[in-house]
Amino acid sequence: MSVLFVLLFSFAVAEARGPGLPNVMVLATGGTIAGTGSSSTTVVGYTAATVGIETLLNAVPELKTVANVKGEQVFQIASENMNNDYWLKLAKRVNALLAQDDVDGIVITHGTDTIEETSYFLDLVVKSKKPVVIVGAMRPSTAISADGPINLYNAVILAGSDEAIGKGVLVALNDQINAARDVTKNNTSTADTFRTPELGFLGYMQGNKPYFYRQSTRRHTADSEFDVSNLDALPQVDIVYGYANMNRVAIDAFVAAGAKGIVHAGVGDGSLARPAVEPALDEARKKGVVIVRSSRVGNGIVARNGEAKDDEHDFVVSDTLNPQKARILLMLALTKTTDTKEIQRMFYTY
Ligand code: DGL
Repeated sequence: MSVLFVLLFSFAVAEARGPGLPNVMVLATGGTIAGTGSSSTTVVGYTAATVGIETLLNAVPELKTVANVKGEQVFQIASENMNNDYWLKLAKRVNALLAQDDVDGIVITHGTDTIEETSYFLDLVVKSKKPVVIVGAMRPSTAISADGPINLYNAVILAGSDEAIGKGVLVALNDQINAARDVTKNNTSTADTFRTPELGFLGYMQGNKPYFYRQSTRRHTADSEFDVSNLDALPQVDIVYGYANMNRVAIDAFVAAGAKGIVHAGVGDGSLARPAVEPALDEARKKGVVIVRSSRVGNGIVARNGEAKDDEHDFVVSDTLNPQKARILLMLALTKTTDTKEIQRMFYTY
């Protein structure tokens, strides 16, 4: 069957279906999905964030058969450059659109480097049960077998689906559906990079439909206590990485620079090196900096009062959140309180 016939048929179907389709907004922010390479075989060393939203949408005419799609370029960056200002701008725009009756769901196209952080941030500040799906690509739009178009197509279906309502912010690439809280990038370059290593996918995209098998047990989106609508900045929270022979220099530097919180990505179960690191974190705590013990391991629970006397130090533990996600929750927690008992509750709630 010729491509032209398929396209004409799809268009006819779209016209025939008309208003019954869900209204999905696609917000573009950059990344590889909007990237271009010097040739069709360039899959590393390309330029991210060069293709605009209208080009992205026009490259997938099939979108018209599954949703009434509108696009908006919120900003255009490689996502390693993501920052709090961009997050606040994106969150406010998402919430404004979701409050509209004519918006059923939102897709955000995004660089994969920080999808796991942006998705968790939005999971904690989006004030709606409507679907929000974050999508990216591991190959630029110019590459052979670019994964962006099919990922975008699936993301729009997911964002317009009833099944995705109330599931929290979702990350959908490579036919897999992940929860924002637990998903992480597992490979620097392969298309199957997004995993939820031990807790697992929520489901799959198959044959133009979502199939869910699980959902998060933690609070998110409409049930979240965090609200950024009146915020123009977020507290500075930094991460120190644990390793053999670690010293206290980075901790002291972050404290001197005015960090309000420090996440320690410890070895093992969030262990603190002595005699260098534990005293440094203790002193930071006594200066009012909130300390969260996380782990560089990537899976498992960081047990309170396990590898450190958290009650004595007045530290918080990250539960299963990896360091980069613990940083986000601590940042938002600090917009509401500096009470470490309250903050620990938040880490056991979200
Ligand atoms: N520069 C990286 C980013 O924008 C490229 C990775 C990607 O988007 O897949 O996140």
